[in-house]
Amino acid sequence: MPTPVDIAPASGKLGVLLVGLGAVSTTTIAGVLAVRNGFAKPIGSLTQMGTVRLGKRTENRSPKISDVVPLSSLDDLVFGGWDIFEDDCYAAARTAGVIEPALLDQVRPELEKIRPWPAVFDQRYVKRLDGPNVKKGKNKKDLAEQVIADIHKFKADHHLERLVMVWCGSTEIFATESAAHQTIESFERALEKNDTDIPSSMIYAYAAIREGIPYANAAPNLTADIPALVDLAAKTGSPLAGKDLKTGQTLLKTIIAPGLKARLLGVEGWYSTNILGNRDGEVLDDPESFKTKEESKKSVLDYILQPQLYPDLYENLCHVVRINYYPPRGDNKEGWDNIDLVGWLGYKMQLKINFLCRDSILAAPIVLDVALFLDLAKRANMRGIQEWLSFYFKSPVHAPGLYPEHDLFIQLMKLKNTLRYLKGEELITHLGREYYD
Ligand SMILES: NC(=O)c1ccc[n+]([C@@H]2O[C@H](COP(=O)([O-])OP(=O)(O)OC[C@H]3O[C@@H](n4cnc5c(N)ncnc54)[C@H](O)[C@@H]3O)[C@@H](O)[C@H]2O)c1
Repeated sequence: MPTPVDIAPASGKLGVLLVGLGAVSTTTIAGVLAVRNGFAKPIGSLTQMGTVRLGKRTENRSPKISDVVPLSSLDDLVFGGWDIFEDDCYAAARTAGVIEPALLDQVRPELEKIRPWPAVFDQRYVKRLDGPNVKKGKNKKDLAEQVIADIHKFKADHHLERLVMVWCGSTEIFATESAAHQTIESFERALEKNDTDIPSSMIYAYAAIREGIPYANAAPNLTADIPALVDLAAKTGSPLAGKDLKTGQTLLKTIIAPGLKARLLGVEGWYSTNILGNRDGEVLDDPESFKTKEESKKSVLDYILQPQLYPDLYENLCHVVRINYYPPRGDNKEGWDNIDLVGWLGYKMQLKINFLCRDSILAAPIVLDVALFLDLAKRANMRGIQEWLSFYFKSPVHAPGLYPEHDLFIQLMKLKNTLRYLKGEELITHLGREYYD
């Protein structure tokens, strides 16, 4: 039997720091409050409802994940966060319009107590937004110190044992790695010099990682996935995860594409379009923010279908992704996919998918799971990039020189095997010869 990893107990309160108290964050917070008061069920959350098979199929051992590894209980979560708008969490949830008022009202007093701290924000990185609740500082280093001061105060005020941070802010404009991002020294110099290569999201990520706090990015923009912050995370012991939550259309893509490839069905074209009317949709209406999202959404099929290995099936795949801002729909996104398939002897077929989903309802359980699993990783002394959390993301962060794993089923196997490894249980290979030998 392998040896279990030492994991510190999940004792005391866990502070969940959310950057951006918009639709995703408020749906997560209100949802956790509703669940812990018994008003609703945590559907979609692996940490709350999932099981993991241990041992051989003949053993019939499939305990709940929360009974296998020590996770913080929902009762021990305390939420805090930053936003450029001053609305408390109840008002922000009403604006987001995801959870119906009757349910929100049941947890209203607790939601009203969560008021956003002034944000680090610069419109240069999110063109379609502007708000009054913004920090002023000498330079970006000073702003990072202010974020750290907010974190210390939050920790002391609520007697928190540990913290995690998740960026749930708007998608920033497209950026690529630059010289400023290469080392901790170059990054800190860039903060002092107010370098434009450091967007607001990186300032929060730096603050968390410097404090040894686990950090995840729910959006597609470049934040902690740069050498300077990955190195800093290794030094301070911060686990990292990201990026861009895998919800609606991309979730379905990573469910369907592995199936088509498994049966060696060719794909000539995959056209995805959707309408979305929430604030996220408004921000993504800006071409520079959309480019960040587009890159994240488009990479998925290339990695899953592997055209370099299967040129006859996928070499000329035409993949188009569109997001149209359409206010009447609010958070209730509608997505259409048209897939042009090729079968035996080159005969063509089509598959059409029409998904009427709720963006933040799909995202909230992911934010909760990622926060709880990152805290577990921290207590298990796992630092840096946590590839086993790829399951939750459209653009999984990964080690340099490695291609990211996008197939949802491989990702789930990786996640569950990591839990087995942590507990010193046999990894499951699905070979299964022993049942027949
Ligand atoms: N909902 C989903 O299914 C989903 C899936 C994948 C990714 N995402 C990403 O998650 C993020 C949040 O989505 P949402 O639907 O909640 O959007 P939202 O617009 O409702 O919320 C984002 C919030 O972030 C705030 N914000 C922006 N910049 C900030 C800053 N620098 N500091 C503090 N607050 C800041 C905004 O004021 C807003 O309240 C977006 O980037 C979105 O692309 C969402």
